[in-house]
Amino acid sequence: MTSRFPTLTLLDHPLIQHKLSLMRDRTTRPVLFRQLLREIGILMGYELTRDLTLKTRPIETPMTTMDAPFLAGPVTLVSILRAGLGMTEGLRELMPDAKEGHIGLFRDPETHQPREYFVKLPADPGRVLLVDPMLATGGSAVHAVEVLLDRGIAARDIRFLCLIAAPEGVERFAAACPDVPILAAALDSHLDENAYIIPGLGDAGDRLYGTE
Ligand code: PRP
Ligand code: URA
Repeated sequence: MTSRFPTLTLLDHPLIQHKLSLMRDRTTRPVLFRQLLREIGILMGYELTRDLTLKTRPIETPMTTMDAPFLAGPVTLVSILRAGLGMTEGLRELMPDAKEGHIGLFRDPETHQPREYFVKLPADPGRVLLVDPMLATGGSAVHAVEVLLDRGIAARDIRFLCLIAAPEGVERFAAACPDVPILAAALDSHLDENAYIIPGLGDAGDRLYGTE
């Protein structure tokens, strides 16, 4: 948690920071960029899932019986397309049984407002882990949370995972979604005149998929 943004938690684990620096490097090609994003997804997923609730049920070990803890309810990974998919890969490795949902958004290049083109969410999602590596103006993340709330998902059941957050985006997200915690690997300096994060890593979707 940072004192400036009470709903933001930054993960400064050395492995995450090392991998993020490699991702920021403009010479890093899509194949390595994808691998690093997946690996960071795994590392951040450990912290993101720290407060999942457990419920015991009896099992038999080879030695005896015991009440063993298991996850109490379903978990749903919701990727904001496209770039969220790359980070969700790591979370899926941690939770192969998780349900998955997708919210397709792209930023209008002129207005920087999110445009929605696809929504598919499972019924009974339980805890929702909303994933998008970039929190720039915050428009996309706030829109995605609104989609979830419209489907009857409670804010207390949502966590937002990103890689790089801009102060402008955190401020907007925290104002619109005060009950949704944000977990990020880095809080960068500011947005440029095109609403790109500085220093950032450029366009995450383009770097992931080699598009422009
Ligand atoms: C990027 C990123 C976020 C959004 C962040 O997606 O993955 O979804 O921009 O910007 P915001 O906080 O200002 O809304 P983009 O719109 O470029 O789509 P893409 O993933 O398909 O490239
Ligand atoms: N989307 C990105 O992919 N990168 C930014 O810096 C801002 C929005």
